[in-house]
Amino acid sequence: MFALPGIATLLLDSCASLPSTKVEPDYTKKTCTVSIDKFISSKLVLLRIKNFEFDFIIIKKSETEFKTLELKCSHEDQPLTMSNKYIHCSSHGSIFDFEGNPIKEPANRSLKSLKTDFASTHLTIHLP
Ligand code: FES
Repeated sequence: MFALPGIATLLLDSCASLPSTKVEPDYTKKTCTVSIDKFISSKLVLLRIKNFEFDFIIIKKSETEFKTLELKCSHEDQPLTMSNKYIHCSSHGSIFDFEGNPIKEPANRSLKSLKTDFASTHLTIHLP
């Protein structure tokens, strides 16, 4: 059983406080690149890829392991927002953990995850 934060906590810990980056996709390689420097002050970085409808969140799981999740709700394809503890959907109240797993319905499917490769100076994110 998970202890969920109160709504006030969720509202205070909004996406606006997260570091973010905007990148151009490399359509030839079907990838985009993000500098490791973005993670100096945070384990979470909001990613906006040009011409993609939804944003993504990159999660630093360890010094060499990162996970990228699409911020599109698996219930009815609405945009998601972040707190420091969870990913949540304001449309119908679903909540997801940082593995992308739903922990509060109505969503019952995981978020889409993009393959994310670490190199010493950057991440290579494989686009869908
Ligand atoms: S669209 Fe997210 S909970 Fe319904």
